[in-house]
Amino acid sequence: MIQKVTTLNQFIIEQQAAFPNATGDFSRLLHHVGIAAKKVNREVNKAGLVDILGQAGTENVQGEDQQKLDVYADMTFINELRASGECCAVLSEENQDIIVFKDGMCRNAKYIFCMDPLDGSSNIDVNVSIGTIFSVYRRKSAPGEEVGQQDFLQKGVEQVAAGYVIYGSSTMLVYTAGNGVNGFTLDPSIGEFCLSHPLISTPSQGKIYSVNEGYYVNFPDGVKKFIKYCQEKDEETKRPFTSRYIGSLVADVHRNLLKGGIFIYPQTSSHPNGKLRLMYECNPMAFIAEQAGGMATNGKMRILDIEPENIHQRTPFYTGSKNMIDKICWFLKNS
Ligand code: AHG
Ligand code: MN
Ligand code: MN
Ligand code: MN
Repeated sequence: MIQKVTTLNQFIIEQQAAFPNATGDFSRLLHHVGIAAKKVNREVNKAGLVDILGQAGTENVQGEDQQKLDVYADMTFINELRASGECCAVLSEENQDIIVFKDGMCRNAKYIFCMDPLDGSSNIDVNVSIGTIFSVYRRKSAPGEEVGQQDFLQKGVEQVAAGYVIYGSSTMLVYTAGNGVNGFTLDPSIGEFCLSHPLISTPSQGKIYSVNEGYYVNFPDGVKKFIKYCQEKDEETKRPFTSRYIGSLVADVHRNLLKGGIFIYPQTSSHPNGKLRLMYECNPMAFIAEQAGGMATNGKMRILDIEPENIHQRTPFYTGSKNMIDKICWFLKNS
């Protein structure tokens, strides 16, 4: 029996049909995100064979040494977003200020795009999974008006869509537009993302905790107590849990989304407000977590409710299975 294959483009069109007054703008934007993902995937797969590894010799606004693939992914997504004509400006981890598209169609486009073009850069040269993370909002300014940083300072609850690409043992694009989370696996033989994980639902309890324990000494007491809780033996709650930490947010979050678990990146001595960036790492991952039945918090409040003050701001980040988030919040509150 021939199995029905639903490509990303077919899925987008089917989803659009559910919105009677949809114009197809978002569908076209997402189509170009898929093209950019395929182009980056092509370079990731060749990494090691062509001169795409190693440092670009430049530093980004974060003070990080940019990897060549950081720069390639950034340029590729920006070019595709401009080509879509459906995006008027982009906020990227790799650029100090927003990139405004002033040409023709783009000036009047209604969407703005936040992205971490290449997440997990420290893993690029050692062949460990990396990814791209993105978030789509409606602009606040009127079409044709000047787009500014103010357009981007919106709470995560305002997201139109959020998603990530994981360049791993296979390449997947996972996204939500507010109607659940769906995962598409790239079939290189036909060059299409095909629906492989419909309506992902994350377990309410998991057995995996993901944290860089190298920073333990400066963790908040509540985090230290939660880690100890995970390591204690207890039949009823099937502890001790398993520690898994890849060092690429996309890979750690994707594994925990499918299997259940909790990802923790609290404030540390070198990052007193946490290391992960609200607009293009935490908000998109929080939207996905909640749409899959999980949670995402900064330890005190819902990530999606945080009022952003600057486009590159950082936040402590806890995300994953509902029961595990509740547990760590209890420890944080009672320590
Ligand atoms: P990026 O490569 O986009 O700068 O992000 C790296 C982030 C994230 O992917 C990961 O969860 C975290 O950095 C790992 O940080 P540590 O190496 O401090 O654990
Ligand atoms: Mn970086
Ligand atoms: Mn990142
Ligand atoms: Mn990055």
